[in-house]
Amino acid sequence: MKTLLYILALSSLLFASADKADTASCRKCHPTIASEFETSMHKKSTIYDDKVHKAIWDKHPAKAKDNYKCAKCHTPNATAKNEKHEGITCLNCHTIIDVEKHEKVNKNIYSKKDKTFYSAEKGRETQKVIYKTITTWWGKTTTVGSAYHDIDYTNEKFYTGEMCMGCHSHKQNSHKFSVCTTDEAGAKDKKENCITCHMPKILGTATTVRLSEKHAYHGFAGARVEPRMLAKYVELGFKKSAKGFDITLHNKAPHDLMTHPLRVVQLKATLIRGTKHTALKTHSFVKVIGTKGKPSMPWLATEVVKSNMIKANEKRVVAFDQALQSGDKVEVVLGFYIVNPKVLKKLNLQDEKELREFTILKSQYFSVE
Ligand code: HEC
Ligand code: HEC
Ligand code: HEC
Ligand code: HEC
Ligand code: HEC
Repeated sequence: MKTLLYILALSSLLFASADKADTASCRKCHPTIASEFETSMHKKSTIYDDKVHKAIWDKHPAKAKDNYKCAKCHTPNATAKNEKHEGITCLNCHTIIDVEKHEKVNKNIYSKKDKTFYSAEKGRETQKVIYKTITTWWGKTTTVGSAYHDIDYTNEKFYTGEMCMGCHSHKQNSHKFSVCTTDEAGAKDKKENCITCHMPKILGTATTVRLSEKHAYHGFAGARVEPRMLAKYVELGFKKSAKGFDITLHNKAPHDLMTHPLRVVQLKATLIRGTKHTALKTHSFVKVIGTKGKPSMPWLATEVVKSNMIKANEKRVVAFDQALQSGDKVEVVLGFYIVNPKVLKKLNLQDEKELREFTILKSQYFSVE
């Protein structure tokens, strides 16, 4: 439950302002959410702010014709005027009324009501909040809702995560091959879905007008931003076996542990015996797409060439042939590369330090009895 504290409503603000909702103005009343959003990959989804996106686009055959095919999801507000500089904005999500399902790529249906935003809040599922000032019988005035916009809490898709699926569900190339998919199962359940995992409630008020204890995290935890926030959805287990030991990886996400085909997940184990550290075999997990059995760029791909990626909800057992002694410790590290180190050079990204780094998602020590 939210602890609410009503403070005096901002008096003058913005009511007279322009007819079209303006994203910059959201910061005035939602500063914490706006600052988190600045760090998110949604904000940085353009070729100007995302080097990985740019690197792939630079190789795309449509680039020569300047036919930017990625706009639909990466720069949904692009017009000739703003030249694809603007990534995803607050309004791109909060005005989604519906998601139409299509074979090639789903489609977001945006509401025409410019200043009515859809959102979700427990206990308000049936409310549509229109801004108004009310005077109580003892003469005090207070406000209901936001002076800048109305809020519609009744859109079911904001409670299941389905509103994420216009962009995240899948994308087919011209060969009718899906280059990336996120299972729909994660956008069905009201208790656990894309929103509850990737936008967890954290401390800090959602608005400065009406204080709340918590708000939904708008940095969107993922592979590139705050992956540690998601570490609790992956469990590591350890068991001695006849030949050595087994490590179990339990992916509690309802989709592949990594959804983008550029990623490489790795499991590393180190044997610690006394003061001696021995690195054991590294196991890699990938989903490589391509054609005729060879990896290729996504627009050429017709098949999955190789996949041992950890699947949705899968418990994967990885065996190590290393005999253990009592008193040994095994350090297990699960992490990933944003871009497969094998293709960094091909994409001209070899000098990007952060992309060469291995990101740790979870690490744990196990002691041998
Ligand atoms: C004048 C201050 C003000 C401005 C500017 C403003 N908001 Fe709000 N907003 C509020 C208040 C106050 C609430 C809480 C209303 C309530 O709880 O009844 C709110 C609530 C919301 C909610 C729903 C919160 C929930 O409880 O789930 C969303 C979504 C939202 N605002 C988005 C935006 C966006 C996007 C912008 C910029 C286009 C924006 N707001 C600009 C004051 C403002
Ligand atoms: C249907 C929506 C959609 C379209 C169209 C789309 N993308 Fe994406 N893209 C996504 C989503 C969603 C992600 C987030 C990662 C994931 O789930 O695979 C993403 C991630 C990426 C990434 C990984 C970025 C990173 O953070 O490492 C690259 C590279 C990329 N897209 C390139 C492209 C290019 C190039 C085009 C146009 C030719 C394009 N995308 C068109 C939805 C789309
Ligand atoms: C139970 C929690 C959970 C749910 C529900 C969930 N995810 Fe995830 N998601 C994860 C975990 C764990 C990872 C992997 C760790 C990471 O990316 O840092 C992840 C990774 C991702 C990534 C980054 C993958 C990549 O290759 O870059 C995207 C995008 C994503 N999820 C989108 C979604 C969408 C969309 C939904 C709803 C359909 C969803 N997730 C539902 C836990 C969840
Ligand atoms: C990628 C989609 C997406 C984008 C972009 C986005 N939001 Fe949200 N926002 C959501 C969802 C989904 C919720 C509902 C979370 C929940 O269930 O509590 C939400 C909740 C909110 C809330 C209520 C928070 C709470 O916990 O009560 C406010 C306020 C809000 N958003 C404002 C904004 C502002 C301002 C921006 C831009 C700076 C923005 N949002 C960008 C999807 C988005
Ligand atoms: C308008 C299209 C759009 C919508 C709607 C959308 N996303 Fe995304 N999302 C993207 C794109 C494009 C990317 C990849 C940006 C990049 O890396 O360049 C992305 C990336 C992500 C990532 C990866 C971040 C990282 O650090 O790797 C997560 C997690 C994510 N989205 C979650 C969500 C959730 C949860 C929702 C619904 C509340 C949602 N998205 C709605 C387009 C969208």
